[in-house]
Amino acid sequence: MSKQDSHFINVFGLVLGILIAIGIVLFGVARAVGNSTQRKEVQQEDLYVKAVEARVAPPVRIAVAGADNAALAIEAPTTSAAPTMSIPADGVALYDAACHTCHGPGIAGAPKIGDKAAWAPRIAQGTATLYKHAIEGFTGQHGVMPPKGGRTDLPDALIEQGVDYMVGQSR
Ligand code: HEC
Repeated sequence: MSKQDSHFINVFGLVLGILIAIGIVLFGVARAVGNSTQRKEVQQEDLYVKAVEARVAPPVRIAVAGADNAALAIEAPTTSAAPTMSIPADGVALYDAACHTCHGPGIAGAPKIGDKAAWAPRIAQGTATLYKHAIEGFTGQHGVMPPKGGRTDLPDALIEQGVDYMVGQSR
């Protein structure tokens, strides 16, 4: 073996040794971190355990007649009631809640409240048409008026009051 070769093997062996040493150190560190007691404590924490149990719980629980079903009541996940949208009291409140978004700033092609020039030709169509377009929705040359402004849960009469209010402000 030439002198050069043996020199290379020496350096190569040294580098290899260092890399192996680093690997062993890293392995030890990883083990230490993975085994840290803190983690086990979290996994045994009451809230954590409950949350996990809730997530893996079967979706349906059956109460058995004559048996003690108390656990059902306690463990059943409490789902907060769906937020119910409040029903505006009158045309003005309806306007604020459902129409102002578009008709206030006049976005998406909506005729702006108070803009007499924009409303004149619409008012000229007659109230019945305005009611119909507001309730059933309407696509005109300017944009799309969604049925009831998106609040299809509301009664027609309330929408008509909202139209009356907007028209009254825009004459
Ligand atoms: C998402 C936006 C949007 C909302 C919310 C909205 N509108 Fe409109 N509305 C429009 C647009 C756009 C037009 C104009 C359509 C066109 O002429 O091209 C319009 C037009 C109208 C018209 C005139 C219809 C006609 O025949 O010219 C009335 C009346 C009206 N809206 C009432 C309402 C009422 C009442 C509400 C609330 C309950 C409401 N709008 C909510 C977008 C909206």
